[in-house]
Amino acid sequence: MAAILGLLPLVLVLVVMADSVSGRFVVEKNSLTVTSPSSMKGTYDSAIANFGIPQYGGSLAGAVVYPKKDNANGCEEFSSGTFKAKPGSIPNFLLLDRGDCVFAKKVWNAQKAGASAVLVADNTDEPLITMDLPHEDGDASNYIENITIPSALIDKKFGEQLKKSANNGEMLIVNLDWREAVPHPDDRVEYELWTNSNDECGLKCDMLMEFIKDFKGVAQILERGSYSQFTPHYITWYCPQAFILSKQCKSQCINHGRYCAPDPEQDFSKGYDGKDVVTENLRQLCVFRVANESKKPWVWWDYVTDFHIRCPMKEKKYNKECADSVIKSLGLDGLKIEKCMGDPSTDAENPLLTEEQHAQIGKGSRGDVTILPTLVVNNRQYRGKLEKSAILKAICSGFEESTEPALCLSSDIESNECLDNNGGCWQDKHFNASACKDTFRGRICECPLVDGVKFKGDGYTYCEASGPGRCRINNGGCWNESQNGHTFSACQESGDVKCKCPPGFKGDGIKKCEDIDECKEKICQCPECSCKNTWGSYECTCSGDLLYIRDHDTCISKTSGASKTTWAAVWVILIGISMAAMGAYIVYKYRLRSYMDAEVRAIMSQYMPLDSQSEVPNHGQETHS
Ligand SMILES: *[C@@H]1O[C@H](CO)[C@@H](O)[C@H](O)[C@H]1NC(C)=O
Ligand SMILES: *[C@@H]1O[C@H](CO)[C@@H](O)[C@H](O)[C@H]1NC(C)=O
Ligand SMILES: *[C@@H]1O[C@H](CO)[C@@H](O)[C@H](O)[C@H]1NC(C)=O
Ligand SMILES: *[C@@H]1O[C@H](CO)[C@@H](O)[C@H](O)[C@H]1NC(C)=O
Repeated sequence: MAAILGLLPLVLVLVVMADSVSGRFVVEKNSLTVTSPSSMKGTYDSAIANFGIPQYGGSLAGAVVYPKKDNANGCEEFSSGTFKAKPGSIPNFLLLDRGDCVFAKKVWNAQKAGASAVLVADNTDEPLITMDLPHEDGDASNYIENITIPSALIDKKFGEQLKKSANNGEMLIVNLDWREAVPHPDDRVEYELWTNSNDECGLKCDMLMEFIKDFKGVAQILERGSYSQFTPHYITWYCPQAFILSKQCKSQCINHGRYCAPDPEQDFSKGYDGKDVVTENLRQLCVFRVANESKKPWVWWDYVTDFHIRCPMKEKKYNKECADSVIKSLGLDGLKIEKCMGDPSTDAENPLLTEEQHAQIGKGSRGDVTILPTLVVNNRQYRGKLEKSAILKAICSGFEESTEPALCLSSDIESNECLDNNGGCWQDKHFNASACKDTFRGRICECPLVDGVKFKGDGYTYCEASGPGRCRINNGGCWNESQNGHTFSACQESGDVKCKCPPGFKGDGIKKCEDIDECKEKICQCPECSCKNTWGSYECTCSGDLLYIRDHDTCISKTSGASKTTWAAVWVILIGISMAAMGAYIVYKYRLRSYMDAEVRAIMSQYMPLDSQSEVPNHGQETHS
């Protein structure tokens, strides 16, 4: 049972595991019908894999192909396009042997080679199991998300019949049918998602959160229109009596060992503990309860996605404080939520979590919930990739015919959540700027572009203008002031420092920049000068007839005095330069005139005979001399 959350808890136990007599893990089956050859006609069992995209509500027919001996298990790559159906012909289903590599790898190899579905033949006589994702991510994480074809496990006996028939060269046609995979009794679909708030469990957690974010918009439309009734659930472990006082249970459980979750890093000494995860799971359950009571159950989707974005474990924000800020931004009643959560340190039951543990045990046609995440539609477990369009198909196939909402027929919709409390996103009324955007995925909080200036921030609690043009918006949040026609600003358009007092001022640059009294500093210190401070600068003047030289902080005489000799030297140089320039000009003028004379003559000679024809060819030589 590699498929099941077996290795996670060190001592923790799932209610359904302890109760193994009545506990059942129901394998969801799609119906498989053989239509040719006639000797095999009939319906057979097959178990839908927990990856790839099954066609809920639809069916798919294909010709079964069994590859050559050397790669009958599909663990090696096939050459590309081997199983691609010719245009207009029936698609190919690849039949593969179980074993030697993970299921997902076989299916990925088949998909790459053009197969439309995969049937994996079991290698032992046993009841069918669900083919799940491998536990170790390895290189599987690179392709699992790209598997789009459906696959199913078939039992050993049926597999052997198919192989024999294929080896005999018979035309083998199989129909996979998902139309009855989900019951569809009425015009409302009840569905549940078994999830977890842990965001550091690798590929599975990432795919789950990606799905929740992606599906949020659709889920909220279904819920608002009362087309569906959604309930979130959280798998909860417990600590066996004998271990309640152990270090493991103390760090992984709340309510005295009653409710536990595996340590996110499986290392008790670092990072977050299992009890942090159960506590957040409990908070999310309470968010749903409180939102559901106020007839807005869809707010759960906002809370969960916002919490994931704003309070990730990676940034050490997976805590109550951060959760409270999300609760507040969504306008939820924080006190009610606290009351619902109770005191996790007491030695008493929490009714909500006890209910969750009981809900894990299968009822009716639904088996025990042991795989995380699990989606249950109309009390039937969904198998396949958690992907928006696939799940929407599964949910839509749960409506009684012709009662499905428009959403099931076209998925081109927008929600209008920004109208309500600005969707809990950042806004600045003064600048009419908001981070709330309605999209097909529901509302998202993303800092806007205002007047061509990009805002940056978390989108929830703050956004601020950044980059070129940022000073146009509220002066970039920095100090600015005008006096007597002079304006100074501390806003910096580039660089890391946003606000910096301009030269001549000191201060934080945000609220205050004060004029520096330069006269008090070591400036303007020459004996003949006097200093006058101005706003943002200073003026130095020298007494009498003296001229102030700012660079040297000295006074010099305008007419005579100490620097006479230097002035004389300057004059000598200036005169020298102008004489040289004049000489050059005379030479140039003379050359130009004689050159032009020759040119004019050359041109005129073309129109009228000239007296001295012999001078014309000189033109050519002149340019050389
Ligand atoms: C999976 O799909 C993504 C996006 O289409 C692509 O970038 C990536 O290379 C694919 N991975 C593999 C292993 O083909
Ligand atoms: C949510 O509210 C509906 C009625 O408004 C109720 O039928 C349903 O049981 C509630 N769900 C939960 C989990 O409390
Ligand atoms: C704010 O902007 C929105 C859309 O950009 C516009 O519809 C609305 O009229 C603006 N409000 C004000 C007060 O300018
Ligand atoms: C400061 O900057 C703001 C925004 O650019 C501008 O509206 C305001 O007039 C400026 N104040 C002064 C005193 O210049």
